[in-house]
Formats: sequence, C-alpha cells, structure tokens
Amino acid sequence: MPVLEGRQEDIEKICAKYPPENRRSALLPVLWMVQEKEGWVSQDSMREVADVVGVTAAEVYEVVSFYTMFQQKPTGRHHIAFCQTLSCAVCGAYEAIAYICEKYNVPKHGPSEDGRFSIEAVECIGACTEAPAMLVGETLHGNLTPERIDEILSNCE
Ligand code: FES
Repeated sequence: MPVLEGRQEDIEKICAKYPPENRRSALLPVLWMVQEKEGWVSQDSMREVADVVGVTAAEVYEVVSFYTMFQQKPTGRHHIAFCQTLSCAVCGAYEAIAYICEKYNVPKHGPSEDGRFSIEAVECIGACTEAPAMLVGETLHGNLTPERIDEILSNCE
C-alpha cells in the first residue's frame, strides 16, 4: 500500500504554503510525513514522494542521503542518534555507544532483535556543551553517563 495513501489533503496543505511553481519546496515536510509513519524512507517511498512533489527519485534520494534525520533502513521503535563529533568523542561518545550496543544488544547496523532500539553514530547534533549527547527519537539528552543512559533507555519500551 502506498505510504502516502489517504494523505493527499495534508500534502496539498503543505504544498499550498509555497508558490505553485515551487511544489518541490514541500519535499522535506512530505518526506517527514513518510518518516513519521514508517520510521524510515524506503526507495519505494522515495519514488512516491518524487511523484507527489514533482521531482525525480534521484533528487529525493539526494535529500534523504544528505540529512541524517532520514533513515534509509528500518529502525528500532526507539532510534538513537549518538553524536561522535569532537566534543562528544573527547567526552566518551565511543565508549557510550559501545556500552549501549553491548548492554541493550543493539547491532551497529539495523534494529535489535526485539525491535526496541537501533543506533547510529552521527555528526554534531548541536549540544556540544552537554557532551556526550544523543537523540532518542527527537528528544535530546546530554551529559550522558552509563547511569543516565540506563535511566533514559529504561523508559523506552
Ligand atoms: S560535538 Fe557532540 S553535540 Fe556537538
């Protein structure tokens, strides 16, 4: 079933925010609709989005592959984006990522067997003063220690 089926009215509301000749400007919010529904953006979804906003599938792929907020493969119910850039690396990001992978059985690629978590190392998420930092879904968490990580992840079912 097409991922955007039944969403035409919402899509048109988004497109109406832009001049008709710039329907392609709706690309990011329409992609976000897909990501919110599916948790990731498949190649089929990219082709569907391309048709909806009037760009090529290659252009959609360029955008999806540029922004790390878009996932190109299935994720766990709780996707962890752990910053690995300098401030966080210096403050223990690699150790924290290893801790999460080991304690919560999260492979480096793809979701955990129980589908609960997935993890990826990302570039700076803008919380350098709270390094090390991660996003769980859309929620930012900083000043992470193993204890703090356990506290956060234990609330994720
Ligand atoms: S370096 Fe990690 S949030 Fe900026």
